This record gives sequence, C-alpha cells and structure tokens, in this order.
Amino acid sequence: MTGKVYVILPEKIGIINKNIYGHFIEHLGGVIYDGIWVGENSKIPNIDGIRKELIDTLRKINPSVIRWPGGCFSETYNWRDGIGPREKRPTTVNWWYTHDGRLESNQFGTHEFIKLCRLVNAEPYIAANIASIPPIETRNWIEYCNFPMGSTYLANLRVENGDPEPFNVKYWGIGNENWGGGGNFTPEDYCTEFRRVATIVKSLDRELKLIACGAGCSITRDDTEWTRRFFEKWVDTTPPGKPVQFYGYAIHYYCGTAGSALEFDTNQWYELLYKASYIEDIIKRHRKVMDIYDPERRINLIVDEWGCWHPDGSGPSKGRNLFEQQSTMRDALVAGITLNIFNNHADKVAMANVAQMVNCLHSLFLADEEKFILTPNYFVFDMYKGHQNGLAVRNIVEAEDILFSIGDREVKLPLINCSASIKEDKLTITIVNNHFDSPCEIRFILVGADRGEIIRRVCLSTEDPHMYNDFDQPDRVKPIEDCPKISNKEIALEIPKASVNLIEVKLE
Ligand code: AHR
Repeated sequence: MTGKVYVILPEKIGIINKNIYGHFIEHLGGVIYDGIWVGENSKIPNIDGIRKELIDTLRKINPSVIRWPGGCFSETYNWRDGIGPREKRPTTVNWWYTHDGRLESNQFGTHEFIKLCRLVNAEPYIAANIASIPPIETRNWIEYCNFPMGSTYLANLRVENGDPEPFNVKYWGIGNENWGGGGNFTPEDYCTEFRRVATIVKSLDRELKLIACGAGCSITRDDTEWTRRFFEKWVDTTPPGKPVQFYGYAIHYYCGTAGSALEFDTNQWYELLYKASYIEDIIKRHRKVMDIYDPERRINLIVDEWGCWHPDGSGPSKGRNLFEQQSTMRDALVAGITLNIFNNHADKVAMANVAQMVNCLHSLFLADEEKFILTPNYFVFDMYKGHQNGLAVRNIVEAEDILFSIGDREVKLPLINCSASIKEDKLTITIVNNHFDSPCEIRFILVGADRGEIIRRVCLSTEDPHMYNDFDQPDRVKPIEDCPKISNKEIALEIPKASVNLIEVKLE
C-alpha cells in the first residue's frame, strides 16, 4: 500500500495545550487502592504511600494534568472525609458499591492527591460534587486548598493537616455526567445549578478555571442535544455584557469495544479503530454548536474521559477490580488515533483525560501488589509527548481507504491517521497505520520548507496485533527506536502494519 502525507507548515492550527495529554483517576475498582495508593508501611516501594514505580514511569511522560476523584464517585464524595490523620478518617460507602460492594477507606484524599501531582509535576484538576452537597461546601473545599497559611480557618486546617503551601488548584469541574449518574438533570436544570455554583465559587477567586459537565457522546445517537440545550439556557440567562464565566465544557466519549479486549478478528479490529476515529465527528459537531452560542470561542472544549471500554474481566485481577481490562496493540492504535485528532483540533480542545490511569479501562499501567507493568498505551503517550506545547500544523493525507463492514453496512476507515506540530526547527509527526496486515509506503511532503532531515524515528508495532504485556511477559510490546538518516523535501518511509509511529524531522 502507498500514500502521501502533505505537512503544510504555513497552515497553523494552534498551540497544542499540554493538558491534552492528561489523565484521570477515580476511586473505582483497583485504580486508587493498590494502583496508586499502597500506604506508607507497604512492602511495595513507595513515596509517602504512593507506588514508586508509578511515580517514576508517569513522570517520564510529562503527565500535564490529573483529574480526580471521579467520575461518578465525585458525586457522592465529601472532601472532609479525606483530610486529617488517616487513622481517624471514616469508612464510607463508595458510589460504585452496588457494582462491587467496596467501601471507601478515605486513605487517599486531597493531600495525597496533591502529593501525587507534585511528585509527577502535573496540574491538579478536581471534579467537585454538584448533585449531593450544597455549593458552600465546594467553595469551602477551594478555600481549604488555595488560601494562604494564616488567612482563614480552613487554610489553617490545611496547614494543621500537613501542608503549609497552598495547593493552587486552578481547574475545578462542577459535577460529572449530570445527565446520568450525577443526578439525572435536564440540561436546563444542570445549567441553573452550574450557574449557582459558579457564581458562589467565583466570589472566592475570579481566576478559577471552571469546567461544566458536557454531553455523553455516542456513535449511535444525536449527542449534541445536551450541548445545544445547555448553551441555549446559558446564553438566555446571561445578562448582556456579562463576561463568560467558565473555562471549559467537558464531553465524554468511550469508543466501546468490538469483539472483546483480547479476542477480535480483522473486521473487529477495523470496527474499533473506526469507532475511535469517530471522535473527530463528535468534536466537529460539538464545536459547531458551541460556535453558535460562543462565537468568540472563549469556552474551550474538553474531553475529560475517553478510551476503550471492553467487557469486564480481561485484566490481571480477572474481574475483581471493576472495569479493569487488558490493552493490546489495538488499544494503542486507539490512543494514537485519538491523540492525533485532539492535536488536529488544538484551536478548540484544551484538555483531555484518558480513562483511567491504572487497573481500569484504557490504562497505561497494570499493578497488583508488587507486580507492575506498562501497557502499550503508555508508549503512545511517551512517543507523543513532544507535541505538548508545540504548534499544530495542518496535514492532508492521500491514501486509499480500508473497506470493512459493521453488520450489513459497508464502512470506510482511512488507512492513515496523522498529526504534526513544530517547535523551533523541529517537526514532530505522529502517524498511525490502521491496516491490520499490510505495511504502507508513505511519502511525506513538507510544504513550506526547503528540506527536512529525520533525526529520530520510534515505532510501536508487533508481529501479531493481538499482543499485550502482562506480569509474566512485561516487554512483549515496546517501541523500537532508530534514525534512518533521510534528508529531502520529500521523505519516503515504510510504516509497518498496525503501528503507531513518531518521526522527528529537523527542518531546513
Ligand atoms: O470511567 C468510569 C466511569 O465512566 C466514570 O466514573 C463515569 O464518569 C463514566 O461513566
């Protein structure tokens, strides 16, 4: 197979917000307890109770921002249960109790979350409860986190609990999936609640970056309805001349599964990649609606949960940890495709958070007591980190589509998915070959540069695309790096079948 990728250097899309490479952790299954928090007295190497291997490996990929404590969990979370001496913290009922019967020990609370963020150099993003606590409690939580030592009772309580330095949490989500588990609101009712909380917490600090709950997106229905009705109500009830009061509008998209996590045929391989690619339509449709109500584009689009969602039980805990799944090369391609699409919408998408970091859905890590491995998804984040804060430039792909079927419908999937960004004289290209069993000869045409020289190439691919890492064979999937020493205005490269690739080019 062959194809061409035109990298159009003069066509600038926008700066890629590093927060597109963000993460999400929730008190759910094995994410927090065991995945992240092992406790200070654990035999598992840890820093102040947080798993050391996770800190060391996470730090390497520049995790930018971490969203916590949920997800659905956030809508019954009372932050006061998770502060103060750990031995005195109450045991409470987790939002997910009816799924797995687990109680919440509250050993990991606000201080432990901030510790994790500081250790890996990530911004904290807290999803606050809107459905089951009054707005004053969200305001109190913000005051507790952000006010300087000596200023207020709550700031001093934080100091008493061990942290003199304010946490400076800028990003606050106001609710989670409020169209569903977060209270089953209508968009209009949620908008009213959101405005109420936003007004109250902004009286504390005008610079807070508030994030509203957006639509739950789906390939099978019109998911812009929530967006349209939320913004309609927002605009209707905003007095003329009043500034926009929030930073972002956060949608969720889980592309689901096809077959199962580990078992899929060629057609199901394409089906899942097609569903992942659909996030491009979702972004285009939602930004179009947002443009009607916010023509100056002051509100950012955020995707604060995304990833595959396979049937339960494929992860190492064999179903003990709710939603824990294995990730094969197919999931790595989903990550590569999704991140390329976010880069290509850098003028609108300001943050994205893969769900969820460890022992869960589209995880980068799997852990069980002393055992700890990197999944193929981890390597995609590592390969793509050079895009953070780069200037995204337009690319045009010319290649044959792949034809496959979903039910009795014939569907087309592009052979190639790509994004490109520049920092000074370095061009970073990330490219996915969606083909299950055929490599692809690609000519990269650098429009607007005299020539380019490849200075690094990294490729994630395996002979069998069903491959994954597990505790017995942790290195089956890992990237290979080389430098083919090609320099020209057009660069021809073979892109292996079913692969995610990074190509770094020095521009001349
Ligand atoms: O990530 C798992 C769950 O998926 C989250 O708690 C919720 O927001 C979504 O439905």
